[in-house]
Amino acid sequence: MKYMWEGRFEKGVEEKIIEFTSSLDVDKNLALYDIKGSIAHAKTLAKSGILNKKEEKKIVGTLKKIGEEIKEGKFKFCSTDEDIHTAIERRLTEIAGKVAEKLHTARSRNDQIVLDEKLYLKDEIKKITHLIRKLQKAFLKKAEEYFPYVMSAYTHLQQSQPVLISHYFLSYIEMLERDRKRFEDAYRRIDVLPSGSGACCGTSIPYDAEYMANLLGFTKISRNSMDAVSDRDFILEVASISTICMLHLSRFSEDVILWNTQEFNYIILPDRFCTGSSIMPHKKNPDVFELIRGKSAISIGLMSGLFNLMKSLPLSYNRDLQEDKKSLFEILYILLSSLSILLLVVPEIKFNLEEINKKISDFTLSTDIAEYLVKKGVPFREAHKICGGIVKYCLKNNKTIKELDFEELKKFSDKFSKDVINLLNIEKSVNLKNSKGGTSSYQVKNEIKRWKRILK
Ligand code: ARG
Repeated sequence: MKYMWEGRFEKGVEEKIIEFTSSLDVDKNLALYDIKGSIAHAKTLAKSGILNKKEEKKIVGTLKKIGEEIKEGKFKFCSTDEDIHTAIERRLTEIAGKVAEKLHTARSRNDQIVLDEKLYLKDEIKKITHLIRKLQKAFLKKAEEYFPYVMSAYTHLQQSQPVLISHYFLSYIEMLERDRKRFEDAYRRIDVLPSGSGACCGTSIPYDAEYMANLLGFTKISRNSMDAVSDRDFILEVASISTICMLHLSRFSEDVILWNTQEFNYIILPDRFCTGSSIMPHKKNPDVFELIRGKSAISIGLMSGLFNLMKSLPLSYNRDLQEDKKSLFEILYILLSSLSILLLVVPEIKFNLEEINKKISDFTLSTDIAEYLVKKGVPFREAHKICGGIVKYCLKNNKTIKELDFEELKKFSDKFSKDVINLLNIEKSVNLKNSKGGTSSYQVKNEIKRWKRILK
């Protein structure tokens, strides 16, 4: 018999159909997880008495051997292998003989693939959260390196208010922390064993799922077999968390690209992390960052494809679900490779402090002046109007706020006293923002300290 399900078929199935329905090309990436799951399944069957000791030993030993073949790249796939599950079972039969026919008791490929995917994702999430931690550390180093230098913050891509460069880096540590926690949270929901669900309704064979869960390190067991074989919400969750994380990396990349332009000239990237142009000899392009931005778009598309895949499926399992893996693998590859490459590049980013300092406009101090007036009893809306008038006056007379003398300022409000002059300083401005989470040196220093404790 060519196919394990051929019993009820009168005639052989068309080659083209087999080719079209095969998932081997994609799910062979799960081979070692399939072996791991099958070894635990064999032990669970032995516990129920479906396999005797000798049979268990034979199956487990052979599966381990097949695992070695796979690791060494010696495993040969056949044209009749429909997917990774059938490929491994076929090889098991070749080596172990008749006893292999007992392994598929009390399971279906429907619960088997969910098990494989979950085992795979548990490992991937560990890799991702580890890399996120490392990137947070790299950002923290930058925050320390550039303390207490000031740049302009931007809103609407217009200079807004002075900010510590460290505060900027700390903001990305916060974003990555939420991503990391989202992954940890998703991990807890993935950590539910689907085995024992069979095709969709459970099994009549005695099956100690708790034992199986212990063998594989699952802390919970599915409470509903239909749910277990048919939902891929755990995949949608990982896809969306990964995409959110990619968006964070993409926004950071966008800042680097922008700040690396001649127009900004805030950032210097080392030659070895850039590439040139085939025609324009002067070019040094920030391709890594452009590609992260581009890959984040692909991640969004793949994630959206996965959501569409699920939206109208009747319960329970449907073959459509086979299409989940390609996108999932690609999304995780995008995220892991982007995190890894940023780990190389971020430590090497240098800020052009002179240029940053030259470009920050005095107008970024206007909110401080408005707040100064508020502290002198002027309602904020009125203070805002007064400062707007000052800015207008400066623009008309081609002056910066700092160039105004006290007499000129006084014309705008009698609430100004001499101390306002002290205010016209970007370091001062930063330190005034001492609200929780603000950019004052005091707040930022404490945050750096806190993150050092967390990330050590
Ligand atoms: N390859 C399928 C998947 O990835 C699992 C096999 C289910 N096949 C079946 N005929 N029920 O979802």
